[in-house]
Amino acid sequence: MQILDFDSKVFLAPMAGITDYPMRRLVSSFGGGNIVSEMVAINALSRKNAKTWRIADVRAEPYKVVVQLVGGEPELFADAARFAAELGAHSLDINMGCPVKKIVGNNSGSYLMKDMALAEKIIRAVVGATPLKVSVKFRKGWDASHVNAVEFARMCEEAGAAYLSVHGRTRAEFYSGAADWDIIAAVKQAVKIPVVGNGDVTSPQKAAEMLEYTGADGVMVGRAALGNPWLIAQIHNYLEHGRIEPEVSRELVKQTLLTHIKELTDYYGEKTALSLSRKYVCWYCKNMREARRFREAYVRLTDFAAALAEINRYFDNCNEE
Ligand SMILES: Cc1cc2nc3c(=O)[nH]c(=O)nc-3n(C[C@H](O)[C@H](O)[C@H](O)COP(=O)(O)O)c2cc1C
Repeated sequence: MQILDFDSKVFLAPMAGITDYPMRRLVSSFGGGNIVSEMVAINALSRKNAKTWRIADVRAEPYKVVVQLVGGEPELFADAARFAAELGAHSLDINMGCPVKKIVGNNSGSYLMKDMALAEKIIRAVVGATPLKVSVKFRKGWDASHVNAVEFARMCEEAGAAYLSVHGRTRAEFYSGAADWDIIAAVKQAVKIPVVGNGDVTSPQKAAEMLEYTGADGVMVGRAALGNPWLIAQIHNYLEHGRIEPEVSRELVKQTLLTHIKELTDYYGEKTALSLSRKYVCWYCKNMREARRFREAYVRLTDFAAALAEINRYFDNCNEE
């Protein structure tokens, strides 16, 4: 089933602190795949907090960006939805899956799976606030004794959601263990709107396997895209054209890492970019020789030019394992 007007079945998952403007631009530059923003706090957006406002502002992006909202109050959600629409969102997603204590404690994220009445009010408020389509991202349930994804999905559909993204883990599991694809299949069976499956997709073949196994209409990829921004396009090309892309060369990894750092610099400035680059360096070098020693040296560097020189030196002198 076609998912809204998206051109792809593949979604880059929303990841706080990761799927920012630089990462979205980079992933989109390889083509194929739909992009979801980091979660945007509705109370800060409604207050027009400058930092949050900037996170939600996707007007400069030529591709479709789903803007994800997180919070716990229907009225604030409606205000935030209107602002996100003004700021260029293609569509809106409601975060009902985040397991983090601070979020859950605010009646937000996966807490909403425990309070279906509030979740429903929120969905109706967001759907009614703008003409944009609204999706909901949620989990298998709160914990092993409260698995309610199917019932929850039916409520979302009834409340006006246009499609659903389901992460096959409970809140209690956070990100551990294997994702349960059976629950994704059960949700798909239970609703008429499109369903996007999420959890443990790490390769084009795994994406095809998940679609086949669950019957889902789309697939969402999170952690496997860290340090691997080509993966979304690779999955798209495999699903659409059966094409397996050649392995990414070390030179391309280096150039992409440097481009990523340049994008971070343009967006956040050198100081923040250097600090953020530390996690990206770790991810991009995951499978390379002497990576540990390089990472340990890299995280200690405090000079931006020296850091770039160190990346060049490392990549130009090491062989992949
Ligand atoms: C660092 C990080 C940040 C995340 N931030 C968000 C978020 O802002 N909103 C959300 O709905 N899910 C968030 N998630 C969950 C992912 O979207 C996804 O559901 C989860 O990683 C499972 O997919 P995967 O197995 O492909 O990684 C985050 C996950 C990670 C690892």
